[in-house]
Amino acid sequence: MLCNWITRFLDILFLSFASAQTSIWSNWWTYDGISGPRYWGLNPEWILCQVGKYQSPIDIQPEKLLYDPALTAILFPSKKMNGNLTNTGHDVTFHVEDDLLPHFNVTSGPLQYEYRIYQIKIHFAHSDVVGSEHLINGLSFPAEVQIMAYNADLCDNFTQALVSPNGLAIFAIFVEIGPVGNEAFTILADNLKYIPSKGQSSWISGLPLNILLPRTTQYMTYEGSTTQPGCQETVTWVIFNKPIYVLKEQMFELRKLNQKGGSDQQLLIEGNVRPIMPLNNRVIRTNIKYENKIKNCTVTKEVFYEVNTLRNNVRRKREGR
Ligand SMILES: *[C@@H]1O[C@H](CO)[C@@H](O)[C@H](O)[C@H]1NC(C)=O
Ligand SMILES: *[C@@H]1O[C@H](CO)[C@@H](O)[C@H](O)[C@H]1NC(C)=O
Ligand SMILES: *[C@@H]1O[C@H](CO)[C@@H](O)[C@H](O)[C@H]1NC(C)=O
Ligand SMILES: *[C@@H]1O[C@H](CO)[C@@H](O)[C@H](O)[C@H]1NC(C)=O
Repeated sequence: MLCNWITRFLDILFLSFASAQTSIWSNWWTYDGISGPRYWGLNPEWILCQVGKYQSPIDIQPEKLLYDPALTAILFPSKKMNGNLTNTGHDVTFHVEDDLLPHFNVTSGPLQYEYRIYQIKIHFAHSDVVGSEHLINGLSFPAEVQIMAYNADLCDNFTQALVSPNGLAIFAIFVEIGPVGNEAFTILADNLKYIPSKGQSSWISGLPLNILLPRTTQYMTYEGSTTQPGCQETVTWVIFNKPIYVLKEQMFELRKLNQKGGSDQQLLIEGNVRPIMPLNNRVIRTNIKYENKIKNCTVTKEVFYEVNTLRNNVRRKREGR
């Protein structure tokens, strides 16, 4: 398989070098200052962070969306998930239990292959005014949940898929503050108190994926990259057109997480948002329905991002950092 061949080649190339270097670099990068997003590309293996043209996240401008009626609903598994919620020092990541991976295939919509859900990450910032990685018309949401899946048809695991064409699919869910919390997000949030320091994990059984997903079949999709080093351009992004709602207190719990291990001097994560990257000449497709006004042979296209009425009308602009 092509996928295997690429990995083997890279293995040989970096065998002696990479293993020693990887842990140094993986402890080095942050979201701030001289190890922040602007400098990730200093690691030769992460050069795409600096020179890549298909990078993520992006600012989605609704008027530029291309309507594609061929984008059918995405098929998600309905089973509940077990796994580890871990403070990685960069973010909080839920790892699906290895034995359960074969049960979490996702397919259809823009996906030509079966993708297997592997982990779920939460991106957030120091205040609710910012926090999502993707923006809609320059506006942020308080957080973004990213469900990451790897190509199970072509690749054996996530590590291999990361560097393989069409290797990953990431499903992004915007998080908004509401009066009633999302039941699945609440399970994750309730476990944060057990993992204040880097490297700590908390076991979770029965995470209901179908509740974490917003109730919609409409989304936007584009080809991009991972938003953490090495910014590999192997990702089909899917961004749902409706947010999920969480409690304000749950956002505070996220901001209590630390970047460092237990005995090291503590430093809050407080933000893990990569700044937006240029769209370049990429097309963002959508199946969001809009009114098609066909009047005397002119088609007026109106595209809008659907937001729930609970969303307050404060327009959020990402603060300069
Ligand atoms: C998931 O996809 C893989 C790769 O196509 C396939 O081998 C496996 O049978 C699928 N699992 C389920 C439960 O459909
Ligand atoms: C992932 O799969 C590749 C190819 O089969 C293998 O060489 C590698 O050891 C696997 N990595 C992990 C972490 O299992
Ligand atoms: C979950 O994390 C704990 C603590 O790091 C670890 O001992 C355990 O092996 C992990 N379990 C899985 C399935 O990853
Ligand atoms: C076409 O439709 C527009 C808007 O409804 C209208 O103002 C205009 O007069 C129409 N033109 C013709 C040639 O019918």
